[in-house]
Amino acid sequence: MGLTIKGTGMYVPDVIADNDDFAKIVDTSDEWITTRTGIKTRHITNGELAFQMGAEAARMAIKDAGIEVEDVDMVLGTTVTADCLTPSMACLVAKEIGIEDAVCMDLNAACAGYVFALDIAQKYLECGDCKTVLIVSSEIVTRMVDYTDRSTCVLFGDGAAATVVTKGDGLYSSVIKSSPQGADKIFTKLPVPENPFKTGTADWGDERMNDAPTGFMQMQGNDVYKFATTAMPQAVEAAAEKAGISLEEIDLIIPHQANIRIVQTAMKRLKMPKEKCYVNIQDYGNISSACIPLGLCQLKEQGQLKKGDKICVVGFGAGLTYGAAIFEW
Ligand code: ACO
Repeated sequence: MGLTIKGTGMYVPDVIADNDDFAKIVDTSDEWITTRTGIKTRHITNGELAFQMGAEAARMAIKDAGIEVEDVDMVLGTTVTADCLTPSMACLVAKEIGIEDAVCMDLNAACAGYVFALDIAQKYLECGDCKTVLIVSSEIVTRMVDYTDRSTCVLFGDGAAATVVTKGDGLYSSVIKSSPQGADKIFTKLPVPENPFKTGTADWGDERMNDAPTGFMQMQGNDVYKFATTAMPQAVEAAAEKAGISLEEIDLIIPHQANIRIVQTAMKRLKMPKEKCYVNIQDYGNISSACIPLGLCQLKEQGQLKKGDKICVVGFGAGLTYGAAIFEW
């Protein structure tokens, strides 16, 4: 069984920081950021919360799908930067847009979150437990950015995107995977709670993790780079094989937007022309799980998607997670 992306929506904050703005706060330059990452600007929250951005994107997607809020029977939130530890962002979005009764839950697969959500949505649609799934991907990645660390702060932005997903007849396949031995390559620690009874100290079983400050993203950029340039092509190949199609039959790839060089290397390894790859990293930076659905929404708005197009979405992220999904538009 395939799936139909019935509606798409997005929201980004008005505040935009360009590379020159970063050169004023850390030792960096537009030239370094542009050539090493492809990023020019990123949108940054001006107080909007992740669930509020998600709700805006969700309203747009529901309107675009031509359905009513009551039709949604599952809300899948994807985020690593939710506003609350509990309840889930999905519950907060559902409350905000007026949903009375639906399965609401978040999944945390970092930047691969949207691909993981598609995989889960398709399975719920196929088994018949749900008929209309609203995937809401909303991230305030700047929430965990250390603005004194030039190697990470320039990379990330904030924003949200949503898609309404229903059953479809077309081709579908998805492959989701994790390499948890790389879980220490990207992490953001929460503080260990103090309490009146505690006498011990937390041991993360890893010196680097023990020493890392809480609240800020820590990343071994080079290792993540190597992982991503291998994992993304592997995932696309596996999804194409599962779908029973060749790579040449894929009309469009929407990859996670972490670094233009990662995207270009992955496309080269797949021997696919760069014209088949959608890139918007120059405008938004890395918005974690929101990158891919935001790309889908933009492409739809621009009228660039044709019925029957075979679209491949592919992502990787902290965990380390990765995966790809192929579906027909
Ligand atoms: N401006 C100027 N110089 C910088 C900057 C900067 N913003 N950042 C790092 N540098 C310096 C470094 O300090 C280093 O200097 P040194 O040689 O004097 O030590 C030099 O540039 C080279 O640093 P590298 O880390 O080797 O640079 P690289 O070319 O690998 O680019 C980058 C770094 C952009 C982080 C790259 O490794 C990358 O994109 N990795 C993947 C990141 C990623 O995909 N993360 C996704 C995770 S997000 C998630 O899951 C939520």
